[in-house]
Amino acid sequence: MLGQASESKKKIYQIIYGYWQSQCVYTATNLGIPNLLHYGPQTVEIIAEKTGTKAEKLYVVLRALAHLGIFVEKPERVFAATELSELLITDDSPSIGHFLMHITEPNMWDGWRELESGLKTGKVPFEIAKEQDFYTSYMNENPQSKNLFNNAMSFLTAEAVDPLFEVYDFSRFKTVMDIGGNQGTLIANIVKKFGCQGILFDLPHEVETAPNNISKYGVLDSVKIIGGSALESLPKGADAITMKYFLSVFNQEDSIKVLTNCREALPQDGRVILLQTLVPSLGAPVEYPDGTIPALAAVQMMITNPGGYWRTEEEYKNLFAASGFKLEQVVYTGTSLTVMEFSPC
Ligand SMILES: C[S@@+](CC[C@H](N)C(=O)[O-])C[C@H]1O[C@@H](n2cnc3c(N)ncnc32)[C@H](O)[C@@H]1O
Repeated sequence: MLGQASESKKKIYQIIYGYWQSQCVYTATNLGIPNLLHYGPQTVEIIAEKTGTKAEKLYVVLRALAHLGIFVEKPERVFAATELSELLITDDSPSIGHFLMHITEPNMWDGWRELESGLKTGKVPFEIAKEQDFYTSYMNENPQSKNLFNNAMSFLTAEAVDPLFEVYDFSRFKTVMDIGGNQGTLIANIVKKFGCQGILFDLPHEVETAPNNISKYGVLDSVKIIGGSALESLPKGADAITMKYFLSVFNQEDSIKVLTNCREALPQDGRVILLQTLVPSLGAPVEYPDGTIPALAAVQMMITNPGGYWRTEEEYKNLFAASGFKLEQVVYTGTSLTVMEFSPC
């Protein structure tokens, strides 16, 4: 048994190693090694040849990843896939591999490098690093990052819909508008499952590529796609507005602007359906069963977005109250996603 001091040191070491782990797994995934090993074990020399890397150097990384359980190392420096590496396949549909690459790609680390200056100046770390706003300018001008981001969002949403639909029924709405709906994965699933009409609203450069994704669900005819900024105005016509991991993009002032635009777009009996992971209040468990630590994810939001971070249930309730909405119900999905339904008051 380790004494208390050793357990504490081990915890610190694990935190330090977290960075090494994510960088090794990012590099292997970016090189497409999980895709390659999906078709069978390979020697490090063959993997190096196929990925344009130096076998001696690559071996060091692959061995480390084998020790982490991502791959298996066999005799003669042969590496094989595992259940974990199969999750990281990126040449098929959106996967956790895309989420991994979005979160850990060097461009995102550039933002993290500026965390301390962000704390001192109050500026957005990503904007300090890149001199560009994350959503409107950087994403628009960096197709590779945008592709990773969009696939990551589509993956997270596709994972979330079944548990969400088990506890929340959208069939009472005629038209649902998903704002900040990215490639339309949520609205396509709602329309397909509940037979309502849909509106996808996101920034113009984002909605450009959404028809391709929505058509995969066979509901393109039932989803109107509209590009614009929710900070300016929102189209009318929906009796419910969903926003999934969207309000967390904005600071308090801009969130109120967005919610005021929602009020103007909705009928009096309309609903705003907030879909977010809630930061636990003091004393509540800090980690969800799927491993999400909301307080840590809140830092990630703050790195990229002006004042945006995840909030507690109480903070969302107050934010909506300040924008003229009252809380109707909170529905827990059993995952890290919670539904908060609001009505105009
Ligand atoms: C964190 S992503 C969430 C995407 C999606 N709702 C999901 O959960 O997968 C935030 C989304 O908000 C969009 N967004 C950011 N600023 C916006 C604005 N001012 N108006 C409309 N959409 C915006 C981004 O383009 C992005 O698709």
